[in-house]
Amino acid sequence: MSKLFVTGRRKLSGEVCVQGAKNSALPILAATLLTRGENTIHNCPELSDIEASIRILRYLGCDVKRYNKTLLVKGDSADRYDIPDELMRKTRSSIVFLGAMLARTGKARLTFPGGCEIGPRPIDLHLKAFRKMGVSIREKHGFLECEAPKGLYGTKITLSFPSVGATEDIMIAASLANGTTTIINAAREPEICDLADYLNECGAKIYGAGEGVIVIDGVNSLGAAQHTIIPDRIVAATLMSCAAVTGSSITLKGIISSHLASIIPAFEDAGCTVKISGGNLKINAPQKLESMRTIRTMPYPGFPTDAQAPMLAASCIAEGTTVFVENIFENRYRHTSELVRMGANIKTEGKVAVVQGVNSLYGASVEATDLRGGAAMVIAGLCADGITEIGGIKYLERGYEGLELTLSSLGANIKKI
Ligand code: EPZ
Repeated sequence: MSKLFVTGRRKLSGEVCVQGAKNSALPILAATLLTRGENTIHNCPELSDIEASIRILRYLGCDVKRYNKTLLVKGDSADRYDIPDELMRKTRSSIVFLGAMLARTGKARLTFPGGCEIGPRPIDLHLKAFRKMGVSIREKHGFLECEAPKGLYGTKITLSFPSVGATEDIMIAASLANGTTTIINAAREPEICDLADYLNECGAKIYGAGEGVIVIDGVNSLGAAQHTIIPDRIVAATLMSCAAVTGSSITLKGIISSHLASIIPAFEDAGCTVKISGGNLKINAPQKLESMRTIRTMPYPGFPTDAQAPMLAASCIAEGTTVFVENIFENRYRHTSELVRMGANIKTEGKVAVVQGVNSLYGASVEATDLRGGAAMVIAGLCADGITEIGGIKYLERGYEGLELTLSSLGANIKKI
């Protein structure tokens, strides 16, 4: 099993391009199932979560080819409507294939997506919406048997929580439904807009993505399209945290600054200067970070839950106390116990984590607890005295494309062994 070895206290410098957004590519890949013809998806990162989705597309009968960061996806010969358990378990975001299979075939058979490291991952909002769209869903032996004998029909759906996955699943299914679907209290993340842009390029009629109300006028069919995935705002936040903890100045290329509107102020509170010019972001960190005071995770455009672990790692060596409130997932502080092994002073109680800044962390042998928790370990290792050994890096490979190579190119001493 590979591990990462990070030797801390090395300054970073230089510039890196930010990879395409995992959480945009995943729903867009599922949506290709609805189209006729060959889709060209550019800026698609090479990640294990993406590979898992490609395996599902191929299982369903699609033809998928990868040329570096571009995927060619043809769905014409897709004729299956079931996803076997071992493929479902690879990544729980595969639930977004439910809406795609229902829209394509009117049927779907799949296992409940596994919970994951950050807590139970219910799908009640997805199922409630599809039942309202005319889908009969039976749950037995961990399987979901879904059927829409009369096809899907448009309806009004109010989400009790602006769930990203549920919004995406409904948008995909509604694109080919009979009539108009209105989603109230829809998620507003940039990945929702990117999915809507892709579907509209295919001929869908989706209005209002990025707002709280999205209207989808169902159409009869969708043609393939060319699309470039937006940059990954969470990878950008992670790299900014790496610069912040090493007192470095680096430039991120190919970002969309509006996607970072709730992230940049947190770094400025910590004493960093952030300059945007065109699609580039230059961050300049002080020798000693200030406390970021309080960080509450919220649905977009609030502070993203996926950036909580990276920012919490950075706060460990800041001056003073930083309070985190995790409002989205119920078990997303597992990385704190690993940070405490490195000398961090963190107290967690339910949704709240109180981080008392310490002078420095020390290298230790730690485990990645989940995708963003793994990033937190790397960030802590970059500023710790000595060497940090990080296990469980398969989690990192789900969402970060060659993180160790990226950081090495910026001057970090980090090796995968
Ligand atoms: C997406 O997960 C992202 N994953 C997550 O990123 C991200 O943390 C999350 O959105 C929030 O922004 C992908 O896009 C592949 P939700 P998703 O549905 O869709 C509850 C990463 O690190 N909920 O908005 O699963 C749920 O339990 C990953 O890249 C229900 O109760 O998130 C959670 O507490 C981690 N019932 C909250 O809503 C449902 O039917 C937010 O979930 C659905 C969700």
